Amino acid sequence: TRVAVVFGGRSGEHSVSCITAAAVLRAIDRDRFDVLALGITRSGRWLAVSDEPARWEHHGGDLPEVTDEASSTEVVLPRSTDDAELLALEPGAVPRSLGPVDVVLPLLHGPYGEDGTVQGLLEVAGVRYAGAGVLASAVGMDKHYMKIVLSGHGIPVGPYVVLGPGQWEQDQEACTRSVDGLGTPVFVKPARAGSSLGITKVDDLADLPAAVRAAQEHDPKVLVEAAIVGREIECAVLGGRDGAAPRTSLPGEIAVGATENGFYDFGSKYLGEGEVRLHCPAELPAAVVDRVRELAARTFQAVGCEGLARVDTFVTGDGQVLVNEINTMPGFTPVSMYPMLWAASGLGFTELVDELIALALE
Ligand code: DAL
Ligand code: MG
Repeated sequence: TRVAVVFGGRSGEHSVSCITAAAVLRAIDRDRFDVLALGITRSGRWLAVSDEPARWEHHGGDLPEVTDEASSTEVVLPRSTDDAELLALEPGAVPRSLGPVDVVLPLLHGPYGEDGTVQGLLEVAGVRYAGAGVLASAVGMDKHYMKIVLSGHGIPVGPYVVLGPGQWEQDQEACTRSVDGLGTPVFVKPARAGSSLGITKVDDLADLPAAVRAAQEHDPKVLVEAAIVGREIECAVLGGRDGAAPRTSLPGEIAVGATENGFYDFGSKYLGEGEVRLHCPAELPAAVVDRVRELAARTFQAVGCEGLARVDTFVTGDGQVLVNEINTMPGFTPVSMYPMLWAASGLGFTELVDELIALALE
């Protein structure tokens, strides 16, 4: 089976995607799978690149990056043929086939990768791929529509306000009044981003304008969420085989102490900054574990996910569970919850990759 591992990409999570790919390139069973590594530069060029995990890992210093120098071979878009070929174009040369590919692992986080765009490209080309399809990816990427879909399915979500494109500029006072209704603190977020990029925790509404501007650097649509007092509990989901119900892992906990921005931010997620501890599995009463797993499976189904997802929840002091979000291509870095949760639930990394490929080929 020939597997194209696609990573990097045009979003702010480019480097996180490279580190995710490194972990998958290390775990994938090379006796069973022939691997083709395709890196997408920040400007959107698809390059055939090294499949050596160490090249894409992060060992301190600069985060890994797919650069234009990574390869002289540019991959033009996948072509729909009986064999769903990928074509390579070297400068001045006629297109050269990289050969048929059985399945693509689009290990891309954020816009232009996790949001249905690359999934649409692969659909058009007739190539099989792992993970969510076009609609589920788009809904999962957009925190505004995600909440509408979850609420529509009776899944509890926290209070929020949406500032649509241009709305803040049009009437800052009215926007501030509606945010005021949420109480403080609030979290100001780009509607479509990940890894906490562009997010600010706001304790005093005097800081709202700067927070909105920071979020707008990633997305003209901004979401403001009421802070939920509770524990951050995450659950990994895998699609069911042969139409069976989705499978859920044991939940894990992110225990956040002091961090630079007062929450589980980019630095504490990936750069080893701040005081954050991951507990896998989380210590929770059995009834709460069941509720988290039930809501994770329902969230996966409500969004119409396939393959995999991580569902992030809050558990309040009285044991209520609220769904914060779903990530349709969760991180697979050495400090990411998704593979850790499966390992704690008895599924090792190599078996997890096998499972994702098997689901994609179903
Ligand atoms: N967006 C990051 C990669 C995650 O959810 O794990
Ligand atoms: Mg996310």
